[in-house]
Amino acid sequence: MNIKKVGIVGCGIMGSGITQVVAHSGYSVTVFDINEAALKTGLESIRFRLQKSVDKGKLSIEKRESILAGIRGTTDISDFGNCDFVIEAVFDNLEIKRKVFSELDNICPKHAILASNASSLSIIDIAAATKRMDKVLGMHFFNPVPVMKLVEVVKTIATSEETVEISKEFGEKLGKTVVIAPDMPGYIHNRLTAVLSIAAIKMLEDKIAGRDDIDTALKLGSNLPMGRLELLDMVGLDTLLEGYENLYQTYKDPKYAPPLLLKQMVAAGWLGRKSGRGFYIYDKNGNKIG
Ligand SMILES: NC(=O)c1ccc[n+]([C@@H]2O[C@H](COP(=O)([O-])OP(=O)(O)OC[C@H]3O[C@@H](n4cnc5c(N)ncnc54)[C@H](O)[C@@H]3O)[C@@H](O)[C@H]2O)c1
Repeated sequence: MNIKKVGIVGCGIMGSGITQVVAHSGYSVTVFDINEAALKTGLESIRFRLQKSVDKGKLSIEKRESILAGIRGTTDISDFGNCDFVIEAVFDNLEIKRKVFSELDNICPKHAILASNASSLSIIDIAAATKRMDKVLGMHFFNPVPVMKLVEVVKTIATSEETVEISKEFGEKLGKTVVIAPDMPGYIHNRLTAVLSIAAIKMLEDKIAGRDDIDTALKLGSNLPMGRLELLDMVGLDTLLEGYENLYQTYKDPKYAPPLLLKQMVAAGWLGRKSGRGFYIYDKNGNKIG
């Protein structure tokens, strides 16, 4: 299949990043969000990141303009009528995703592949809301999408080999390295790292070590670009909590039980970098100030 038009559903942290990367690779992208303010913020974040690349001399002004010209924002999902490939990045909630996929199934051309960027749900539960389960799979990007090289392609029991092959090739055209992951919540990467992240939060909650010491130990001891708690702030604590709840419900394994501290922070609206406060405090540009 020759992919020309790509649709992205949700223009939050992930949807805006995926939109940017897909447009950068020369595809024409339509990005849809039900929330007009979120759509505007997402599109602004793309402009902001591209301008930063221009300022650093990593991107030409012409390329920035061609990327932006390839992106169209909409609050009307029926604009996906001519998309060949759609990637969904709405909240990690099964009912919302099933509703989105059922709508996409009615609107998109019969040949279109529908991918979900879900982090912790079974893709078959989402695919079952459509009449094209063979053309539904997971395409799990990592945050920040323009920087992170990995994509997990998640094949369900109903996904066809052809769909997997087309999606793998598409991921590689976006400059990513693709691994094939099982359709089990958390897939490969998040199942492993959830254990480490939960242990880091519990270490803080139990006052075994302080925030900065936990982050410095993991960062320097494992040669990582940032500390674990700082990374969790970047991901979004509400997204993480939802993910851990899903893992815990699925595997009934206490190693995935969300820590009380995480629940309390989400209840307080301390969602990480996007809300200005998480384990750290941020200014309005997302710079760490405390
Ligand atoms: N944040 C991460 O680091 C990360 C990493 C990998 C995967 N994911 C997954 O990506 C998905 C999106 O996460 P996010 O962090 O970008 O969330 P987010 O909260 O930043 O963005 C979600 C966006 O979806 C929009 N939305 C909600 N319902 C919608 C609907 N019915 N139709 C259209 N738009 C709708 C919201 O308005 C919002 O803008 C989730 O499934 C999450 O698990 C997140």
